[in-house]
Amino acid sequence: MIIIFLGAPGAGKGTQAEIASKKLAIPTVSMGNIMREALATGTQMGLKAKEFIESGKLVPDEVVIGIINERLADDDCKNGFILDGFPRTIPQAQALDKMGIKIDKVIDIDVPDKVIQDRMSGRRVSMSCGAPYHLAYNPPEVEGVCNSCSGKLIQRKDDLAETVINRLKVYHEQTEPLKDYYKSQGILSVINGQESVEDTTALVLGALED
Ligand code: AP5
Ligand code: MG
Repeated sequence: MIIIFLGAPGAGKGTQAEIASKKLAIPTVSMGNIMREALATGTQMGLKAKEFIESGKLVPDEVVIGIINERLADDDCKNGFILDGFPRTIPQAQALDKMGIKIDKVIDIDVPDKVIQDRMSGRRVSMSCGAPYHLAYNPPEVEGVCNSCSGKLIQRKDDLAETVINRLKVYHEQTEPLKDYYKSQGILSVINGQESVEDTTALVLGALED
């Protein structure tokens, strides 16, 4: 199965992708996590992407399309995968089509902008695997430690309130048009992402069974 999670920054794409990945036993390919890994290890691509990410802009299409092309060719993706944070522009969606990737479902997690700010300020992510937590809504079992990989939990630089405003603007301008793109292909399901993590998961799994 090939699934895309769409939604505003902080809508819960990473959280739901992580849960669905375990349930369906297929990997999640998170473009944000790939970027943050490149930043942390200081690769040339990471250095280029840093300025874009930390100011809340999108990394240029040709860079992320090149990365996704390589990643999806890996062996673990041969029985399906979940895309979290890709595509985010129409040219990126067209690039997936050109690669001959047949998408089964696109889940749009719908959360209003006003709820996003609150989620971002409380978010912590694993330094090692990128899994997201929230201090109040989705705390780890042990404070400051990732349930999955035992990595240290840190706050993302682009979660500063001012940067979040930029990311939301970029989302509305460049990513939201993807809803119509996939609606016209008949594969879009919009779900309410304002419920608890568990209730949102139930809606996601229901949409995947449709
Ligand atoms: P990326 O990391 O993908 O950022 P994003 O889309 O802005 O998404 P987030 O990770 O912020 O949100 P999420 O939807 O995953 O929410 P989460 O589950 O963590 O990308 C970062 C940057 O990299 C981009 O800005 C861009 O520069 C670059 N980039 C990445 N992909 C790119 C691409 N394709 N093209 C170009 N550039 C690209 O949840 C958020 C918080 O809410 C967490 O704390 C969580 O615990 C909590 N939460 C989740 N669900 C609930 C719930 N139901 N109730 C209460 N709290 C909840
Ligand atoms: Mg994420």
